Amino acid sequence: MSRLRYLTAGESHGPALLGILEGLPSGLPLESKDIDFDLARRQRGYGRGGRMKIEQDQAEILSGVRFGFTLGSPLGLLIRNRDFANWQTRMQAAPGVPDPHPVTIPRPGHADLAGGLKYGHLEDLRNVLERASARETAIRVALGAAARTLLKDLGIQVGSFVTAIGDADADPPDESARRLQGEDAEGLALRADQSETRALDERSSRRFVEAIQRAQQRRDTLGGVVEVVATGVPVGLGSHVQWDRKLDGRIAQAMMSIPAIKAVELGDGWAGAHRYGSQVHDAIEFGPRGLSRGSNRAGGLEGGVTNGEPLVVRAAMKPLSTVPSALPSIDLGTLQVAPAHVERTDTCAVPAAGVVAEAVLALCLADALLETLGGDSMASLRLPMARLRLSTRARPGHLFVIGPMGSGKSTVGAGVALRLGQPFTDLDQLIEGRVGASVTEIFTSRGEPEFRRLEAEALSDAVQKEPAVIAMGGGAVLSEAAWRVMRRHGAIVALNASAEELARRLLRSERGVQQRPLLTGADPTERLRQLAQERQRYYARADLSLNTEGLSVDEAAALVLGMSRSLEGALSRRAREMGIGQGSEARGLADQEGEE
Ligand SMILES: Cc1cc2nc3c(=O)[nH]c(=O)nc-3n(C[C@H](O)[C@H](O)[C@H](O)COP(=O)(O)O)c2cc1C
Repeated sequence: MSRLRYLTAGESHGPALLGILEGLPSGLPLESKDIDFDLARRQRGYGRGGRMKIEQDQAEILSGVRFGFTLGSPLGLLIRNRDFANWQTRMQAAPGVPDPHPVTIPRPGHADLAGGLKYGHLEDLRNVLERASARETAIRVALGAAARTLLKDLGIQVGSFVTAIGDADADPPDESARRLQGEDAEGLALRADQSETRALDERSSRRFVEAIQRAQQRRDTLGGVVEVVATGVPVGLGSHVQWDRKLDGRIAQAMMSIPAIKAVELGDGWAGAHRYGSQVHDAIEFGPRGLSRGSNRAGGLEGGVTNGEPLVVRAAMKPLSTVPSALPSIDLGTLQVAPAHVERTDTCAVPAAGVVAEAVLALCLADALLETLGGDSMASLRLPMARLRLSTRARPGHLFVIGPMGSGKSTVGAGVALRLGQPFTDLDQLIEGRVGASVTEIFTSRGEPEFRRLEAEALSDAVQKEPAVIAMGGGAVLSEAAWRVMRRHGAIVALNASAEELARRLLRSERGVQQRPLLTGADPTERLRQLAQERQRYYARADLSLNTEGLSVDEAAALVLGMSRSLEGALSRRAREMGIGQGSEARGLADQEGEE
């Protein structure tokens, strides 16, 4: 880890777990509920033991965040161990009498013996096992949740699911799961979260449950395999130039650091070792969207650098070492044969390990991303991130204009389209035309959720057409799905102005305040200020931003055009110079491939 560093501390039955994450840029929206969501995911899963019933992990943010945004200073997190109440005298920091129940019989497969010999704790192996315990992964999941929030804000999603438990393999993912694997790793994870084993489908989950029950009946434990996926990963993270900068190596190290993970593969990994090269490598293709790969057997990494395809990592977890029927060991007090110490244990923790693997992958990717983009503040990351995202494209694609009501999305957007010689689409008008009712009428008669559904539908149709300037509705930015579509199909510019200026413009505009459902019945300036506060964190995600206050429509359009030029990469410049992938030819290609 270089740009983003973390450290954890804490014993399993001590008062708390601590984590410090340094290197998060300032201006990232972060709340403890974002972290607690992942902590709860780590605690679920069929086959977990009694500890999970005692602990309901919640993270306290001790530093690095103020009024819901990161400061750029180290993030300090604390998770209290509720079980400490039962261990206070046995785990106290103050001097005292030794534990009346020392652990002297090491458990095979745990750090007990090696750690005891190394640190001189043979009289009580608890001094080792408390820290070696996978309880530590709770704080790593918490720190990983912060890294995940950063990635998500920049358009990268991380998710996982279970592909095997013991000798039970999952069915191959169905079509919708495969689509999620390619486009929305978080959606994939949420789907896995629906099942108690984090399988992607019911049938596989039933097989997993049966396998775990069989293990329980024989007082044994089970391992398995998780697949971790990251989507929206731009090309160019990591480096081929030095061994310790290769991202494949860094990911493998991070995965291996998870307790009980004993093998890691990228892409087709082990299977590739048994095939011909022509069956393993991913052909490079050039189409209207630019460079792409026909397949992703490499798992998104070549030469230690991300290649723009989803990252696919699989990790194999060994069966848990605390076997309830007790493995043979030696009592270090008597040096006699004795059954190993049995600490309260899970039968199977593979579903939880997937959540931990997501966290370590998020930390690893966020580190590599910040290394590539720099970034003391979130604002300073936007432009380089957009350049990276667009760098494999043959042309910039659509230009999406976002911003609050009255910011000039329609007027400035139309001006930009005119200058570019491209069509202009106002998403609200497109919906009104399709439904035959105004936005206000749709809101009142059908409700906001239905309007948002119509909006998503209109957006996915609009992006299939030739490159255009698309003005988004004011609230469209609240949808993560809309962000994925916008990032996949082009560049995003945000327009803004003060609430007073927005109100002034709306009061004079044709559609006015009356036709804006979210403004009716309220003091418009106050309501606009409130909406801006609620939505600013989303508007701030745009690749480019322009405050249109004091600018004429023409001036603003010229500025947007100039700014959007700064996103053009070497590849699209070359394609433009050579007349490849542009204009009607591009449309012809697009038609063939069903893209844009
Ligand atoms: C989420 C999670 C939960 C775990 N729970 C247990 C457990 O209940 N019992 C156990 O023996 N090992 C458990 N482990 C694994 C041990 O912590 C691990 O095997 C041990 O510390 C030795 O480390 P190693 O297997 O990496 O060599 C768990 C691992 C993870 C990731």
